[in-house]
Amino acid sequence: MKLDHPKLIRLLQKAYSAEQAAAFAYIGHAKASNLVEEKIAIKQIELDEWEHRREVLSIMSQYGIPVSSFYEFQFYIIGKVISASCFVIGWFMPHFFAGKLESGNVCEYFVIMHYFHELGIKEHDQVLYDMGIKEKEHEVYFLEQVKDSRLLPIFEKLFGWGDNKSLNDVDYTNIETVKESIKYCKIK
Ligand SMILES: [Fe+2]
Ligand SMILES: [Fe+2]
Repeated sequence: MKLDHPKLIRLLQKAYSAEQAAAFAYIGHAKASNLVEEKIAIKQIELDEWEHRREVLSIMSQYGIPVSSFYEFQFYIIGKVISASCFVIGWFMPHFFAGKLESGNVCEYFVIMHYFHELGIKEHDQVLYDMGIKEKEHEVYFLEQVKDSRLLPIFEKLFGWGDNKSLNDVDYTNIETVKESIKYCKIK
């Protein structure tokens, strides 16, 4: 079955490639860290991103959606640049920007879910929900790490993410069920 939804197709292709960028970034992030506990946590997040990439690919294959070589190239570069930058920009910034990135990724999966619903397809709800919530978990992890930093209020003002600002409307202290999760990340 082919999907008649260009925005959905593009978003799936982008999510697939962006997961690799995230995984690359976390490889650098973990290597640059000198705390064992932190290395383990970031390694797990990297594994989650590879898993997401596999899940997205399996959805794409179901509908015959090709991998975008443009996004693959673009996000390959982005991932490698972020990965390398982790060795030079200190401790705070890789954590802060990872948190901000994860914050934006949460809605990606819920928007994909909304798009599928526009086509009357609900069979991917659970896997998309799980990925969206997992990205939220990643966001919360990074926020926990930076939340006591003196730099956070400044960065929050400059970059629009932090203790009081998130890029999604998922409340981690009160997560909705799969069915109720349609209220998240409404398309405007
Ligand atoms: Fe992910
Ligand atoms: Fe993530």
